[in-house]
Parts: sequence; C-alpha cells; structure tokens
Amino acid sequence: MTERRSSESGFPIKAVYDATDVPGGLPERLGAPGEFPYTRGVYPTMYTSRPWTMRQYAGFGTATESNARYHQLLRAGTAGLSVAFDLPTQMGYDSDDPIAHGEVGKVGVAIDSIEDMRLLFDGIPLDQVSTSMTINAPGSVLLLLYQLVAEEAGIAGTALKGTIQNDILKEYIARGTYIFPPKPSLRLVADTFAYCRAEVPRWNTISISGYHMAEAGATPVQEIAFTLANGIQYVRAALDAGLAVDDFAPRLSFFFVARTTLLEEVAKFRAARRIWARLMRDEFGATDPKSWMLRFHTQTAGVQLTAQQPEVNLVRVAVQGLGAVLGGTQSLHTNSFDEAIALPTEKAARLALRTQQVLAHETDLTATVDPFAGSYVVEAMTDEIEAAATALMDRVAGYGSAVEAIEAGFQKREIETSAYRIAQQIDAGERVVVGLNRFAVDEEEPYEPLRVDPAIEAAQAERLAKLRAGRDAGAVERALTDLRTAAGGSSNVLYPMKDALRARATVGEVCGTLREVWGAYRPNDAF
Ligand code: 3HC
Repeated sequence: MTERRSSESGFPIKAVYDATDVPGGLPERLGAPGEFPYTRGVYPTMYTSRPWTMRQYAGFGTATESNARYHQLLRAGTAGLSVAFDLPTQMGYDSDDPIAHGEVGKVGVAIDSIEDMRLLFDGIPLDQVSTSMTINAPGSVLLLLYQLVAEEAGIAGTALKGTIQNDILKEYIARGTYIFPPKPSLRLVADTFAYCRAEVPRWNTISISGYHMAEAGATPVQEIAFTLANGIQYVRAALDAGLAVDDFAPRLSFFFVARTTLLEEVAKFRAARRIWARLMRDEFGATDPKSWMLRFHTQTAGVQLTAQQPEVNLVRVAVQGLGAVLGGTQSLHTNSFDEAIALPTEKAARLALRTQQVLAHETDLTATVDPFAGSYVVEAMTDEIEAAATALMDRVAGYGSAVEAIEAGFQKREIETSAYRIAQQIDAGERVVVGLNRFAVDEEEPYEPLRVDPAIEAAQAERLAKLRAGRDAGAVERALTDLRTAAGGSSNVLYPMKDALRARATVGEVCGTLREVWGAYRPNDAF
C-alpha cells in the first residue's frame, strides 16, 4: 500500500484517473504551445529548438573567488550566470558596517562598490552571457553596477541580458532581506521598470518568486497564488506610476520551486501560465502576447535535501529537475547534493549541472513539447490547482491588495500553518523522508564541506578604506545629495544613483541615503 494519498496542495490523488476526470473544452484550456493561454509552454517549439538555460546559482566569499567559480561553471557548460550575494549586500550594508560582522561573504559574494563588481565579472563577456542577480531591496543598485562595468568594457545597456530578482513583497512574507517600507519599495520597483525600458531594454526587471515561500512551507497552490498576487501588485504599481502595461509586462519574469512530487509540480507550472495569461489579457488589457507569457526560472527544492546520506539528494534533484523540465521551465538551477551541509564543493556543483545535462542530452525530453498534455491525472491536477489558486488569490484581493494582506499577516500565517503540518507529518513518519525518518543508517560517513575564509571580512574592510581614500569625496557627496533629492521627490532615482556609483559611492552609502529618506521597514508582527 503506497503512503501518498493526497497532493501537497491537499487534494486527494485517485489511484486511477480516466476521461471523466478531464471536463470538456480541453483544447481551449490548453492552447497550442506558444499560444494563449500558454498552458503547454510559452514558446511554440520550446526545447525542440533551444533547451532551457542551465543557470547555476553561485557566489561566496570575495568577488575574485566567485569569479573563479563562474569561470568553472562556464567551462563546465552552464549557459547563464546566477549571482548569490552575501546578506550585508542584500540588506544594503557595506562589509565594514558593524551590522555586517560575521556575514561578509558567507551566503554569497560581498559586493561593496564598482571595484568589487569589476572583479566579479573579470574576463566574462557581458554581451554574451545572461546574468541573474538574486538581489531584492538594492536590486537597482546592483543592476547599475553591472551596467557601469559593462560600459567600461564598451558594452551598451541595449546589449545586456539578465534578471534582477527585485521582488520585495516575498521578502516581507518569507525571506526577510527587505530595507524600505512597501510604498517606497514599490516606487523603486516602478522606477526600475521605467529605467530598464529606456536604458536596458532586454533586461528582465523582476523575478516574482514563489520559491522562498515554498521553501518556508507554502503548498503548490499557496506558492502560485501568493506569487501571482504579488505580480498583480507590481503591475498595479507600474500602472499607477504611469507606465503602459505592454511597456513593462514583457520583461516580468517568475521563479518557482520544483518539489519531488513531480506530477503535481508539472500541473502547478501549467496552471500558473494559464492564470497569468488570462489575468494579463483580460484584467489588465495587455495586447502584446509577450505580456501574457509567464516565463519562469526553477530551482529544485533546497528544503527537501537531507544532511543525512547526502548522496540520496542526487536522486531527489534529478526527479525535481525532471519535473521542472516537464513543466516547461525557461531556466533551471539544480541544487548540489551537499547543500544541506554547507556551501557546495566544486565537484558537487559540477554534478548538479551534469544532472541537467543528462536531462537535456540523454533523455528524449527535448524532442517534444509538453509531453503530459492530455494526461488524465496532470490535466485534472492542472484544473484543480488553477481553481484553488484563483480562489486563494481572491482571498488576498479581499484585503484590498497583496501589500494589505501582507501587513495583516495573511500570507505568512497561511504558510506557517502549512509548514507546521509538514513538520508534524515528518515527525510522525507519515511523510517519508528517505534517510531521515526511514531507511536511516547507524553511522553517517564524514563529509568535508567547503568553508569560507573568515579573513575575508578584514580584507573587504581594507579594500573599502582604500576606495574611500582614493575617490573624489566631493563628487560622491554631491551625487548622494542629488539622490537624496530625487528620493524625496518624484523623479526616477536610478539616474542619480548611477552617477553616485560611478563616482565610487558604496552600496551601503547609496542604500543608507535612501534609508534616511524612506525609512526602514518594521514588520507588524515584530515579536
Ligand atoms: N523559441 C523561441 N525563442 C526562444 C526559445 C524557443 N523555443 N527558447 C528561448 N528563446 C529565446 C527567448 O525568447 C529569449 O529571447 P530574448 O532574450 O530576446 O527575450 C532567449 O531565447 C532566452 O530565452 P529565455 O528568456 O527563455 O531564457 P533566459 O534564461 O534568458 O531567461 C527567465 C529566463 C526566467 C526569463 C529569466 O528571468 C531568468 O533567467 N531568471 C533566472 C532567475 C534566477 O536565476 N534566479 C535565481 C534565484 S536563487 C534564489 O533566490 C534562491 C536562494 O535565495 C536560495
């Protein structure tokens, strides 16, 4: 007798599905691949003409160390870069800020200034790669540093491709790297949309993320519903800022998790595309098909990795990656098997990429589009998830907006309830985690993980002291004053921000100036 009787979203899973589980009108609900409502995928040919982007998230220690890892990954065949920043950078503090102590270079690379950004991309042709940056509150700052480094190499903004995560709302809900309150944060997002349309038109301005809410315990339905509800808030913020929907919507992108429950995950991705397409065309009146397409990145579920028997994670990641591909992802990160222990070693990171290469080159997955189309179970699950996610989005809308629901603590409470249920099921052994609560071994083999050099903090502080001593302090001060004025007014802050960064103002100084004007976010549920 199998253990699994219901889906992660709580629906019963039938032992046998048949035609009666798929209501009529399926062709209209599906659309052809690359056609509205994109249930089968956003491109007509999908992987038959171009496989998904293999984009491994990496970054730790100094810019030089991370640059070396990027070169290793490019040599190993990764097609896109994905930068992890340390927490001080993500929170808008310099490495020598007292609050940064102990975190410099730890969960990602430390970037304080244009000098660090130059080292981070040393030897990498920025007009030939697409670079994702997992940076939210200071997303605009890091984008401008990237553009400045490209300009120094003679590369125009029109040639740059990539994404900044820039999704502040899920930071309030689940991840926590926020700086400013919602209102100025949404203004900054809208300014970034407008700036990119004018200056960096091929850049994906936001990666509206469900991943972190899923990692915090959200079910697939909650993941989709809260993510798309956040998407609606960003669209409204841009429209309120006077932008036309088809001027920014084509450059919105998304980011979801891939869990081990493969069938439901495939259904989840297909339902998300259908909901978003209908929303953008029918509610927001977008007329450019690129505004209707939900393009997304997927990362395999970090929270499902175990520190126990870590090699078993290779199997989990392969199944999760398979689900993302069957679900039509545009870009994929496969977790390293040792990530539940520490930063991935080079060998573990290479194995994670090899997993994608096996999926792309040894299976027949790239030979055809959306192979589950017409599957009784996947179509039934797609319909179920679509209906439940739409209903949950209506509950968020009932608060007035996603921000008002966030301030009422709604999303957080719903996710915490799910997380608690999952933990109880694992503790009770109802939810099997191989190697953890079943099939455990008496003796775990020792594993030597990668460690970040603690001396990095002092080294970064020294680099900052040299930078400040060697720059034109007057030019920096004038540029920060212009930024302060723009932040207090209504003009686009990214232009004075870029001038300040070019004059070698630091990430901390720029974010500190904005913090002075806009204040810092304090969650309502501060205990
Ligand atoms: N037919 C026609 N055109 C095709 C095609 C096909 N079959 N396949 C691809 N293309 C085209 C696309 O249209 C695109 O053209 P464009 O550049 O003119 O727009 C080009 O080829 C590249 O294709 P995609 O845009 O589909 O793929 P990308 O990889 O460039 O972009 C994305 C994917 C999802 C849109 C983008 O936003 C992206 O790369 N996101 C990545 C986000 C990411 O890596 N996040 C990491 C987060 S880590 C984190 O937060 C977790 C941590 O906290 C633990």
